[in-house]
Amino acid sequence: MAFERTLSILKPDATNRNLTGAINDRFEKGGLKIVAQKRLRLKRQEAERFYEIHAERPFYRDLVAFMTSGPVVVEVLEGEDAVSRLREIMGATDPEKAANGTIRKDFGLSIEKNSVHGSDSRENAQREIAFFFSEIEICP
Ligand code: CMP
Repeated sequence: MAFERTLSILKPDATNRNLTGAINDRFEKGGLKIVAQKRLRLKRQEAERFYEIHAERPFYRDLVAFMTSGPVVVEVLEGEDAVSRLREIMGATDPEKAANGTIRKDFGLSIEKNSVHGSDSRENAQREIAFFFSEIEICP
């Protein structure tokens, strides 16, 4: 077990349907603490940079368009094994393949509009947290 931080983004499909409280409730009931949170609208260049590891994937352009289509809520979550814990709570990328009781199963609309992002490794969590937050904004 490792005490870690990870990054989550509540995506435009979730903010548009007023689901931010319901999703935060899943995080908190799942043992994760929200230690930083802000609502913002990503500019195209910011979304392109955040998702640059997917730049060659066929869904990249649509993903950037979707992520800039409305507000997002970016959050730092903290807890034991936070990176893998968040991925369990979110469920598989495709809501149709996600396990029962996961966020993406219950709220996701499609493989793109899957309501929530979570860092996929400790290294990426550090990069993604630094992308949105300075240390002074993170309050355990
Ligand atoms: P996320 O965890 O934010 O990481 C990349 C995102 O690309 C993913 O969630 C989905 O929103 C989106 N996406 C769209 N199509 C696909 C696909 N075929 N495979 C993986 N991710 C996809």
